[in-house]
Amino acid sequence: MTLTEDIARLKFEIEQNSFQNAEDVERYRIQYISKKGFIPALFERFKEVIPEDRKAVGKLLNELKQFAEQKWNAGSEEFNKESKKEKEGLFDYSAPGWTMPKGSRHPLSVVANEINSIFSRLGFSIAEGPEIEDDWHIFSALNFPEEHPARDMQDTFFIEKNPDMALRTHTSSVQIRMMESKNPPLRLLMPGRVYRNEAISARAHCFFHQVEGLYVDENVSFADLKQTLLTFSRELFGEDTKIRLRPSYFPFTEPSAEMDISCTVCKGAGCNICKYTGWVEILGCGMVHPNVMKNCGIDDEKYTGFAFGMGIERIAILKYQVKDLRLFSQNDMRFLKQFRTEW
Ligand code: DAH
Repeated sequence: MTLTEDIARLKFEIEQNSFQNAEDVERYRIQYISKKGFIPALFERFKEVIPEDRKAVGKLLNELKQFAEQKWNAGSEEFNKESKKEKEGLFDYSAPGWTMPKGSRHPLSVVANEINSIFSRLGFSIAEGPEIEDDWHIFSALNFPEEHPARDMQDTFFIEKNPDMALRTHTSSVQIRMMESKNPPLRLLMPGRVYRNEAISARAHCFFHQVEGLYVDENVSFADLKQTLLTFSRELFGEDTKIRLRPSYFPFTEPSAEMDISCTVCKGAGCNICKYTGWVEILGCGMVHPNVMKNCGIDDEKYTGFAFGMGIERIAILKYQVKDLRLFSQNDMRFLKQFRTEW
């Protein structure tokens, strides 16, 4: 018989086949499809076909193979389900369950939650604002002069289609939104993600997280700011933590300061974390600038306020002695699973 006739005969035979159970399907597979089955045997004979006939015969062979495999697929789908059901009959429902692996909080969430909780106890409420923000809220209302370097393309990601919009470079923009829309007294904590056009390295990233604080009321003083930050630092880093304020400059506060805490690693003795000074900087702060109050429609004769802003990564690095900032955004389980905590 010619190969063409054998192909037709085998096709007919396969069509006649029907399956009653999974064993039938397996027998069929071995007989027709497996390496030693009928179909590969026909393919073996393809060598004998004369060149003029190859195209047509090759097509028939491939069609037969596909047809046989489809039939087998349909059969295994139908009867393997059946065998699954049979197996379910043997399932021991009294056996102990599989335990799900327990997840853990991201270290930045742990730190942010801790900060939120401390300030909540001091009477601050949580507020949020948009990450894509306009120039007014990021810079102008915060009293940034027109030529301030922070507005530069080097630092800020502007939105191409609308140069008035940018990814916020700090959470201070949320202060403005809050002062514009609410009346004093205001006691707010504003956590969020911020963006800066920095080359990514162990010490810098193009996005990170900040927490902003704002307290506006009658008679709010620098002494209130200092005591609030001291209480916060002791709660977060431990009873024996000391703070120190150094004069600084921010356009939106007057006077402005940067705050250091006594090094949590060496307790002030000197180590490479604090660069042997015994102190590490953790935040910027100051009394809200009268221009900022005016820009938000708040009476700066009647009200005063303090503000502060800190980087969450920076605090997490200090608390957990993380050496590379990139670890926070790589989602590497070996790093993340070290932070097992209730928070
Ligand atoms: N926005 C400042 C920054 O990103 C941090 C800051 C400094 C916030 C002083 C404040 C403040 O509210 O009073 O570097």
